[in-house]
Amino acid sequence: MTAGSRDDGRAAAAIVRARRDAPYRLGIVLGSGLGPLADAVEDAVVIPYAELPGLPVSKVSAHAGALVAGWLEGVDVLVFSGRSHFYEAGDAAVMRNAIGMLSALGCEGVILTNAAGSLREEMGPGSLMMLDDHINFSGGNPLIGEASDARFVGMTTAYDLGWRAAFERLAETAGIPLSRGVYMWFSGPSFETPAEIRMARILGADAVGMSTVPEAILARFFDLRVVAFSNITNLGAGMTGAELSHQETKDMAPVGAKKLEKLIRRFLRDQAG
Ligand code: HPA
Repeated sequence: MTAGSRDDGRAAAAIVRARRDAPYRLGIVLGSGLGPLADAVEDAVVIPYAELPGLPVSKVSAHAGALVAGWLEGVDVLVFSGRSHFYEAGDAAVMRNAIGMLSALGCEGVILTNAAGSLREEMGPGSLMMLDDHINFSGGNPLIGEASDARFVGMTTAYDLGWRAAFERLAETAGIPLSRGVYMWFSGPSFETPAEIRMARILGADAVGMSTVPEAILARFFDLRVVAFSNITNLGAGMTGAELSHQETKDMAPVGAKKLEKLIRRFLRDQAG
């Protein structure tokens, strides 16, 4: 099978089962700078995407491409260390097999993470934002071309209410500030202009980024529960005097990533218990 063919991750799931069979419960998609969470997985089997049919090999620096299957805080998890983006080849469904694989392996849901720019001054670099909702501003949709009626996915409560409440409680108990808001998906790969950032604020966005929305749509398509977090690495274009850069994203990501790792670990501990 070629990397581009769609089997909703079935062939990849069979390979994961052959390498490490377990009652997998959750997938975790790691955004820029969240790689260390993959290193924390115990009893880990690391499978490069290149060995998993249909999984996309990303070439974005800071996005190493491997699936880490293992055990984290008592839960069998599938961690995507590195993801592919719409902007790499113009395919919004680039993660379809990867998300489908989670469903094929019996997962209940997926935790999505991303690096993002903030539109709120008080939610600066190093902050965490849990997504309450999103705005698809890219024009792409991963279900374009899907023939079945299942393509008409309801998105009214795309981000799982129960899991959001659980994370909010956990964050409060742990003393980790957790903002909530609306994430707006721009295709990238160029950053936004200051005018686009002003528009995004007017349209009701709190953060902007280049990922997550297609994965959230796919997850709902595959009937997975979804919760998603933005790791804020900068204020939006034009909100400070500075030019934006991918280097800044990479440099700032570890700050929020540490807090997010703590939250995810606590969440998993509760799931296990
Ligand atoms: N815009 C889009 N994507 C991003 C940003 C941003 O400001 N920061 C990190 N990822």
